[in-house]
Amino acid sequence: MILNEEQLELKAMMRNFADKEIRPVAAECDKTGEFPMELYKKVCDMGINCLDMPAEYGGPGLSRVTSCVVREEMSRGDAGFALTIGANSLGMKPLLLAGTQEQCQHFADIVNGGGFSAFCLTEPDAGSDAAATRTTARRVGDEYILNGRKCFITNGALANIYTVIATVDKEQGAKGLTMFLVDRDTPGISIGKHEEKMGIRLSSTTDVIFDEVRIPVKNRVGEEGQGFYLAMQTLDQGRASTAASAVGIAQAAFEYAIEYSQIRKTFGKPICKNQAIQFLLSDMAMKIESARQMGFLAAEQVDNHTPWITKFGAMAKCYATDVLQSVVSDALQIYGGYGYMKDYPMEKLMRDAKIYQIFEGTNQIQRIVIGGQLLKEYKVKN
Ligand code: CAA
Repeated sequence: MILNEEQLELKAMMRNFADKEIRPVAAECDKTGEFPMELYKKVCDMGINCLDMPAEYGGPGLSRVTSCVVREEMSRGDAGFALTIGANSLGMKPLLLAGTQEQCQHFADIVNGGGFSAFCLTEPDAGSDAAATRTTARRVGDEYILNGRKCFITNGALANIYTVIATVDKEQGAKGLTMFLVDRDTPGISIGKHEEKMGIRLSSTTDVIFDEVRIPVKNRVGEEGQGFYLAMQTLDQGRASTAASAVGIAQAAFEYAIEYSQIRKTFGKPICKNQAIQFLLSDMAMKIESARQMGFLAAEQVDNHTPWITKFGAMAKCYATDVLQSVVSDALQIYGGYGYMKDYPMEKLMRDAKIYQIFEGTNQIQRIVIGGQLLKEYKVKN
């Protein structure tokens, strides 16, 4: 896919913002694990703190392809920062799929006003097996009462509003799952463990605990039993953006490596003059470009509402995040011993990169999803 003029301008603008505003604070925040609130305010002022929010709710109204362009450049600046912004979109998606206008507007008012959102699916015993969700929603009159503990929640401690998946009937498995919109200030919500992570350290990852949290029925998103479908669709559509993030981190690693290879001299010449280094750089560039194009292909399925969103979303996420691992590893190799040291950028990029093969559905789960789609597509009639 070739970007149009508007997308190229946006890309250049975001690249400049990442270089001038994100990168200078990211390294320090990586050390402290603190989220850069001033930087977030700037992104809010630019109106891009929830990339998937439609214009009718006061958002940027970007296509999925264009939001991927922005996400890539933001991630090139800092992966954890871009993830925080991405989690706002993940929180809104179920509302756009099945919520009421009132729910969407309520969410938009909070997030457009500088707030955060979090998508609460994962639990200690429901990670890859999302249907094993144990958080319960008990209906009592005009309310549901939520009880349970979510873990590894991106934006857990920052969020002002959550989309939460809970079961109304454990016996029904996936078919009992239901989605709710939950305000942070509802009594009974508390933040549990703050995870001390290897990478993406400035992003908030916590447990979120629900203890007899009373939610009005009007905050149910869609119907009872629709929650698993909404969660799957949300993840399907979000995977192009995860691929874009992986491409952004890989691009950063590649740019540092190609620059370093021209400065670093061994045996009396810059190391880029060695074919061994050029081969590494060429392979990195080919992999990044193909991952970028696969991400756009997945994003185009979302924009065009095709039946291939699930398949290409999983393919793009899986491929781009596997590419990211190999690119960061090769980029660090080009830095040699210096790449392993905290004084140079590669060490942080390598720590940031690993989670991409794990979250938003592990790459093993992506292969299960792709396999399932392929078997439907190529079904042999016996
Ligand atoms: N779209 C719509 N419907 C779907 C679907 C999809 N993509 N996938 C499954 N379904 C439907 C099925 O058709 C089935 O419906 P029927 O019974 O009516 O046929 C129902 O849902 C159950 O499907 P499965 O039997 O396939 O479900 P399963 O229990 O075997 O699980 C799974 C399938 C794909 C492995 C799923 O559990 C999964 O995606 N797991 C990974 C979860 C995940 O990605 N977690 C990431 C957390 S979010 C995160 O990381 C964000 C962050 O903060 C960084």
